[in-house]
Amino acid sequence: MIPIEFRAISDALSSEEGERIAIRGWVYRKREFKDKIFLVIRDSSGIIQCLARKDNQKAFEEARKATIESSVEVEGCIKKDPRAPGGCELKVDELKIVGLAAPFPITKSAVDASSDFLLDVRHLWIRSRRMTAILKVRDTVFRSIHDFFRSRGFYEVQAPMFVTAAVEGGASLFKVDYFGRRDVYLTQSSQFYLEVLIYSLERVYTIAPSFRAEKSRTRRHLTEFWHAEAEAAWMDLNELMRLEEDLICHIVSTVLSERAEELGLLGRNVKALELVEPPFPRLAYDEAIEILQEKGFDIQWGDDLGSDEERALTMDFEKPVFIYGYPEKCKAFYHKPDPSRPEITLSADLLAPEGYGEIIGGGERIENLDVLLDKIKKFGLDPKDYEWYLDLRRYGTVPHSGFGLGTDRLVMWICGLQHIREAVPFPRDIRKVYP
Ligand code: 4AD
Ligand code: MG
Repeated sequence: MIPIEFRAISDALSSEEGERIAIRGWVYRKREFKDKIFLVIRDSSGIIQCLARKDNQKAFEEARKATIESSVEVEGCIKKDPRAPGGCELKVDELKIVGLAAPFPITKSAVDASSDFLLDVRHLWIRSRRMTAILKVRDTVFRSIHDFFRSRGFYEVQAPMFVTAAVEGGASLFKVDYFGRRDVYLTQSSQFYLEVLIYSLERVYTIAPSFRAEKSRTRRHLTEFWHAEAEAAWMDLNELMRLEEDLICHIVSTVLSERAEELGLLGRNVKALELVEPPFPRLAYDEAIEILQEKGFDIQWGDDLGSDEERALTMDFEKPVFIYGYPEKCKAFYHKPDPSRPEITLSADLLAPEGYGEIIGGGERIENLDVLLDKIKKFGLDPKDYEWYLDLRRYGTVPHSGFGLGTDRLVMWICGLQHIREAVPFPRDIRKVYP
């Protein structure tokens, strides 16, 4: 219909008074009066208010027909108006309905009614301003992870999703029927393959799904999550923590500078994010247990930290905090024992502040063949399942470290969300695999 080029709405909002422009998008809000109709149109870049007046009969009729979420093309002139969102309004000359929407199931009252309903219609809720803002922050988070690792000389690699052994313990493995030939699982972590790859590339990273058969429903567990993992030859725990710190600071500062508008729309307190600067406090596991006991937790040395404990610990800090030196039995078999205290490991978790808790797990790996074999047996595992992994210790073994960052938990914290499901476009948990 329209001979002039379509503009992004964000671009249209900065047009001159009286300028003729065309936009296209979806009807976000509609208010009807006797002689005028206001349509707020949204596209991926923003929203603009359009006014159709009765004196333009044809455009007015189309505006009357246009339902919420109909896709439309609009042409008209820009008028500055401080009352309109974005400070200007589009006076409609022509309006074309491209796809007339049936009555949209997500109404204002439905949004308040139940989040289960919004999960059932996630394929439609995705269009909301809230989800759009979260997805834009998520995009910035993923891009800044790539930028960071590239700038530090890491190669991006890809690991398989079908695997034959557990990385993080058998309890949360998803079994897959693989032609009835042998037991195959969905990967819990790409770590072991990254460990292979450091023998050619030295520093590697990947961003990929990981799968955990998490049977409990919590605010921070998904069955399928996006895992950013890195592994580096010759790196020790101290260097690893510095790398993690720099990564998190890079991501947060990029989001703060590029996504201020989205964080505002989400009602995020950005002051809390502005405090995220190196160095992060480091707390020994032993001290963490003492603090928790003082706070009245019924916890003993040797117990793992759950979400309540992590929440309580992070409340004392404004920045993310490292907890290092977990006891052997709290961590998977591959963690290297501390030579000066073999009952603890050279491991560290990074906990996000404001109660969010663990976003990163990592540490030094066992590089000695015999120590690794002993650990595998001690954990009740079968060395046969780890043959190729053991080979890495047979052929030019090297000290090395790595970590895994849960990107969905990171987005949850950065956006200040109540539930991890909001941080992912199509969340999967024990109850949800649709849409
Ligand atoms: O602490 P985890 O289990 O560590 C590993 O998988 C290591 N193999 C990673 C490595 O060293 N390469 O998981 C790492 C992170 C956690 O800190 C958390 O942020 C996230 O992955 N994560 C989950 N996120 C959402 N849902 C789940 N069920 C998650 N399980 C772990
Ligand atoms: Mg962990």
